[in-house]
Order: sequence, then C-alpha cells, then structure tokens
Amino acid sequence: MKDNLIKVPLDSRTYPAVNRKAYNALSHQYRTQNEAGEFGWTDAQWREFFSRHVGSHSNALEFGPGSGRILEIISNLCGNTTAVELSPEMAAIAREKSPNANIIIADIKRVELERELFDLIFAGASIHNFPTTEIPAVLERFHRWLKTDGRFAFTTTLHEKHDEGFFIKGDFPGNHVRYRNKFSACVLEQQLWRGGFEIQDSILQKNEDPEADGEWVLGVCKKRRFLVAPGINPRTQACNSASRQVHGKS
Ligand SMILES: C[S@@+](CC[C@H](N)C(=O)[O-])C[C@H]1O[C@@H](n2cnc3c(N)ncnc32)[C@H](O)[C@@H]1O
Repeated sequence: MKDNLIKVPLDSRTYPAVNRKAYNALSHQYRTQNEAGEFGWTDAQWREFFSRHVGSHSNALEFGPGSGRILEIISNLCGNTTAVELSPEMAAIAREKSPNANIIIADIKRVELERELFDLIFAGASIHNFPTTEIPAVLERFHRWLKTDGRFAFTTTLHEKHDEGFFIKGDFPGNHVRYRNKFSACVLEQQLWRGGFEIQDSILQKNEDPEADGEWVLGVCKKRRFLVAPGINPRTQACNSASRQVHGKS
C-alpha cells in the first residue's frame, strides 16, 4: 500500500502519544531497513556530507534518530553527540550502535538544552511528525541551541499540495498510525523562515517510483542573523491549498 494514503480522524493534540506508540511498534522494522528518511544515500555519502559540517571537536544534535543509522555516522565524526528520541524502543536500538552518544528519551518540545551549544543539528524525517502550528516552536528551539555559524540540516518529503494529519504508515506492515505533515515547498520554506532559518542548500531526490508519496529533499539551513517579527516570509507568496510547484520541477 502507498505510504500516507489513509487518513485517520484523531484529535491533533494527541500527536506525541500517538507517534510514540507507532515508533515503538516500528522500531524493529526500522532496525532492519536501510533507514535515514528513505533519502537513498549510502553511508559513505552521508559521511562525506556530515564531515563538511562537523569535526572531532564539534558538538552535534540529532533530533529523532530512530534506530540510529545516521547517529552512528555522526557520533563517529564528532567530539560530542546528543540525540533526542521520543520512542524508548528506538532509543534502545540506537544506543547499541552509538554507546558514546548521549541519547535523551523525550519529546523535543519538552527538552531544555544550553544556548548556542551545537555546530550541527540534524533532523532526518522527523520535522514532518508535527502539526504545522507546532513547527515554529520546535525550530525556535533549534535556533536557540545552534551556534551562530552552525547548520541545521533535515530530510523530509515535498508535495505539490500541502496536507497533514494522522495517516496509516502504508510502507510498513501493521497499519501503524502517526502524525505526518506533507509539506509543499512553500509551507516548509515559511515554517523555516518563521523559526529563524534560511535555506542555504537543498538536494532533491528524483523519484523513479510513480506511486511514491512526495519527493525526498535534504535541506541545509543557516540561522538568520536578524529575526523579524513572526509572520509570513516576506520573500514568498502566501501558501494556498493549490500551492506552488515543488522546487526543481518545471
Ligand atoms: C520517521 S522516523 C525517522 C528515523 C530516522 N531519523 C530516519 O531518518 O530514518 C522519526 C523519528 O523521530 C522521532 N520523533 C518524532 N517526534 C518526536 C518528538 N516530538 N521528539 C523526539 N523524537 C521524535 C520518532 O520517534 C522516530 O524515531
């Protein structure tokens, strides 16, 4: 079954508990699959990417490491690695692979960390587990925790039309439901801007599969130097349901 096809009517305020339950149940399937937000890079490609942003004296944070494939790569490159993971089952698997990483089992919105602590914050397929209204608050935390010259990198999917809600995860057996934000490029760009970031670089992964739900993107952001009052990104049009074309498409 195609991923994210069936929407389930649940109260959006329940999303942390619903997501924790789903990712606990999915943890062993994540362990055996080639995870990393389904962004199809090899370990060597990820290693090369991260080594451009961190070194042996760097501090890095991974938000939502899942079963820890990328965490292992980051923690082998970095002086200090922290991860915040909602699912205790996922965190237990990640800990086996990265015993030197400091893995905090918590909702990222309930964690307090030091200001300007990290050179890199990475969120692989995790920023889309929030309702749009919650995303600026998450990104503002990343903005606070990131050093002035640090980088925030993420993977997610981009969709021609924005949608969000509780979806059945169709690419895994078991009919697990979790909150899934299907960003349009416009909505994602606005959320990043509101959270204090501007996009420095983005890599779109072409989908060969006509059934695939959205196109995977890896984004790299830097902190905006001056925060304007929260509001719409002055450089983009308002996003409407018809939305703009996904970046990279004509
Ligand atoms: C789709 S999985 C991605 C796992 C891995 N990063 C990857 O790229 O395959 C999303 C992960 O983010 C975690 N997560 C979702 N919401 C979270 C939150 N509010 N706080 C901490 N972790 C969260 C989930 O438990 C899950 O392990």
